[in-house]
Amino acid sequence: MPVFPFSLHSKLPRVGTSIFTVMSRMANEYGAINLSQGFPDFRCSAELVELVNKAMKEGHNQYAPMAGLPKLREEIAKKTVELYNASYNPETEITITAGATQAIYTAIAAVVNEGDEVIVFTPAYDCYEPAIEMQGGKPVFIQLQLPNYHIDWNTVRKMINQKTRMIIINTPHNPTGSILKENDIAELEKILAHNHIILLSDEVYEHIIFDNQPHLSMARYPKLAEKSFIISSFGKTYHTTGWKIGYCIAPEILMNEFRKIHQYIVFSANTAIQYAYSEILKHKELYLQLPMFYQKKRDTFLNLIQHSRFIPLHTEGSYFQLLNYTNISKENDVAFAEKLIKEHKIASIPVSVFYNQKTDNHMLRFCFAKEDETLEKAAEILKRI
Ligand SMILES: Cc1ncc(COP(=O)(O)O)c(C=O)c1O
Repeated sequence: MPVFPFSLHSKLPRVGTSIFTVMSRMANEYGAINLSQGFPDFRCSAELVELVNKAMKEGHNQYAPMAGLPKLREEIAKKTVELYNASYNPETEITITAGATQAIYTAIAAVVNEGDEVIVFTPAYDCYEPAIEMQGGKPVFIQLQLPNYHIDWNTVRKMINQKTRMIIINTPHNPTGSILKENDIAELEKILAHNHIILLSDEVYEHIIFDNQPHLSMARYPKLAEKSFIISSFGKTYHTTGWKIGYCIAPEILMNEFRKIHQYIVFSANTAIQYAYSEILKHKELYLQLPMFYQKKRDTFLNLIQHSRFIPLHTEGSYFQLLNYTNISKENDVAFAEKLIKEHKIASIPVSVFYNQKTDNHMLRFCFAKEDETLEKAAEILKRI
């Protein structure tokens, strides 16, 4: 290819290849066990694949309605009433998206304007910041507090001003595995009582929560729900991250704006897969048993590594386990993660990459959504380090 003939003004000049891609590439290159990326190495249910197949064979291969298949939206509405005692109108308040990532981008694009501030708690999942910047908004970062990565609500109070348009929360939390508790909700309710701030609640791990704790969806709290975009993902719940289907629920006035953007980004999401999810959602046991399934994985992994020199943090939800390595090395976390791949053949994600300032607490993120055999092999390595 000839050299590009003029200079391009990048809209996201600081964004490069993501660490997930870098770590996975290195994991392949060095033949390492890959606990870096957040997806299962086991299969989704054969019944779900059959249902997609059936929908395709029955001819459901054209565009779905813009807001999503009505049957699927109705099932989501039923589930939201049953689990969170909240009723959303499937006609006007639920939209199916091409994964949670698209829903997050769309919600931010719908309401964040030039100069608006958006509070983001770090470490944070990586798609919030660029989506805010693309709208000319300003991410305002507040660090979660160690040792258990909780929100310091006094700092939030101090950072709120006339320009604050949105607060983004994520429970259960990637990368730390922490969850919001009732006291957090009470603080949030107080803080949002007297301003016009919109909440974006990323709840993609709503069904991956442990030790019998309830998932505190914003949908449960009318005062918060009335100003929230709540976003979830079927990819996490049904071990189908590659299918990229998620959804957003929000009051009609927010959803109207959401759909204006949604229809020009994707118009609609994959039809056959929406048919399949609308059927599988009827089998409630599948999502109701998911906490136990992943809690077992968490505990298996923790038991296997208990005699290692890594110090585990308490994971309350999500499928990530943070391990602190201060007993082993003083290296920065990126260098240490690279060394683990090259010398020990195990891949993780250094937690500093989830911070705007690359804050390094000597912490690595390991994904335990893996076959027990994979976890056993990983633990063997970790115990030797
Ligand atoms: C916190 C969080 N939000 C959103 C997403 C994106 O979900 P999806 O794959 O449905 O776009 C992920 C995926 O890892 C995530 O961890």
